Amino acid sequence: MTVAGLDKRPADAGGRGDEAVRAEAGRRRTFAVISHPDAGKSTLTEALALHASAINQAGAVHGKAGRRGVTSDWMAMERDRGISITSAALRFEYAGGVLNLLDTPGHADFSEDTYRVLEAVDCAIMLLDSAKGLEPQTLKLFDVCRSRHVPVITFVNKWDRPGREPLELLDEIEQRIGLRPAPVNWPVGVAGDFRGLIERATGGYTAFTRTPGGAERAIETHLDAAAAAAREGVAYETAAEELALLAEVGAEVDMPSFLAGASSPVLFGAALPNFGVRRLLGALTELAPPPAPRLDAAGEPREVDAPFSGLVFKVQANMDPAHRDRVAFVRVCSGRFERGMVLTHAATGRPFATKYAQAMFGQDRETVDVAYPGDVIGLVNASALRPGDTLYADVPVAFPPIPSFAPEHFAVVRCRDSAKHKQFRRGIDQLDTEGVVQVLSSDARGDQAPVLAAVGPLQFDVVLHRLEHEFGARSELDHLDYAMARVTDPDGAGVLAGQRGTEVLTRRLDGALLALFTDKWRLAAIQRDHPAIRLTPLLAGAE
Ligand code: G4P
Repeated sequence: MTVAGLDKRPADAGGRGDEAVRAEAGRRRTFAVISHPDAGKSTLTEALALHASAINQAGAVHGKAGRRGVTSDWMAMERDRGISITSAALRFEYAGGVLNLLDTPGHADFSEDTYRVLEAVDCAIMLLDSAKGLEPQTLKLFDVCRSRHVPVITFVNKWDRPGREPLELLDEIEQRIGLRPAPVNWPVGVAGDFRGLIERATGGYTAFTRTPGGAERAIETHLDAAAAAAREGVAYETAAEELALLAEVGAEVDMPSFLAGASSPVLFGAALPNFGVRRLLGALTELAPPPAPRLDAAGEPREVDAPFSGLVFKVQANMDPAHRDRVAFVRVCSGRFERGMVLTHAATGRPFATKYAQAMFGQDRETVDVAYPGDVIGLVNASALRPGDTLYADVPVAFPPIPSFAPEHFAVVRCRDSAKHKQFRRGIDQLDTEGVVQVLSSDARGDQAPVLAAVGPLQFDVVLHRLEHEFGARSELDHLDYAMARVTDPDGAGVLAGQRGTEVLTRRLDGALLALFTDKWRLAAIQRDHPAIRLTPLLAGAE
């Protein structure tokens, strides 16, 4: 693997594998942006696309109000609530490489979706608002990156607005999350009076001039240190002093510790006027790792030039209201994908035809004929595929399942119109398979009114909305007084039967037995009274 730029290595000496696939994989950088809502993720996404020449005007990707029309009732719901649920995968070419940006939902209630997306990336950009620093959702998402060993590049955004001191922000990163910040560049001018950026490695200076509305690429003027000092005066001197302090503590970009998740290259900028965004693209191509061999369920690596394999990380229905179809997003992990090839679905052993493979670009789609490791393909009408599933060609492989989060909100869902029960069941099954919500049931509760389990309550709103609008089954919820879940076994279920403040239900998707508890005291009391009971925590979401 190369660390200083795009991989252009020749094939290995033994001549094994496919040189072309390795070269294409080496050109790719697949990443996501993690941030707290409002830190500027959508704005940054557009600015990145703008600088990579994928779009001509900011505003084309997310269809924000007044920019571009909203194309589905699904998106209408997002617009009404000001949240983003639909994960788009964007792809753009930059400096001879291919950047795949996987969008993550902004709201904490959809952390589980975000987690799945982070299973499919090789790097993440941690986006901070310069006035706010590390916010709760950023911290949570950062923890996911750390647990997944995803290296993180930090982008301090909104430097055109009043904010905090740069050294103070670095200190916060180091103190609160134990990540050693290593600035790639340094701002000249305090937050709110952003003049330009000094490149630490070279001392070169880029001054910015805003274009009206920030819709076009900002004008960048490159100066050497002496010219920059003359132009910016005191602001430059202050920045130079801060840089001298940094040099003393040795906060250099260090590839091994970045890749190991111990340090993070930091860049400053402002996504709205798109200052410093081109440098961020450069940092991605120089620093972010290309696709690496992925470990299968047995812990064996699937080399990038092995026959095709892919991981389903998201299933999204109803993206195109005209077709009411269902798209499975697949991250290519190894080999060359060619549209039309017949793959095997590892979970069922069944063949899977790929005639309708598509690339997604915001709300637009186009057919994709060929894809390489790191790319994302959308497989249409993939009703058998679930998040976490593996598809492969020739040599079988199954990647480890994506763990589900600990639900904290529980509700019984009922169809309001008994004549629509069939539609209701179909809808519940589909939402369960897509991973929109976890569906639990028990013999005692019966089939008519399953229990829904969610990480955040907005997931319930999505379920009700989709049951009504997509399946024609208006439904209602009856919230349950549980707040915690643990995985148990039949013995545990026997112990818990009839106890107050607890109930055991079966998760439909995988048959796991989930014990629900009203609160942690009830859980603690049961553990105290029955020390041998098996109560395993699920992956912490909001817990
Ligand atoms: P999100 O996806 O992370 O939720 O954030 P989004 O991009 O929607 O940005 C949140 C708000 O912050 C938006 O303002 C956006 O214009 C603003 N913003 C993002 N980056 C910058 C920046 O670098 N500088 C400044 N000054 N503002 C920035 P809004 O008024 O809430 O929305 P809008 O009406 O502008 O879309």
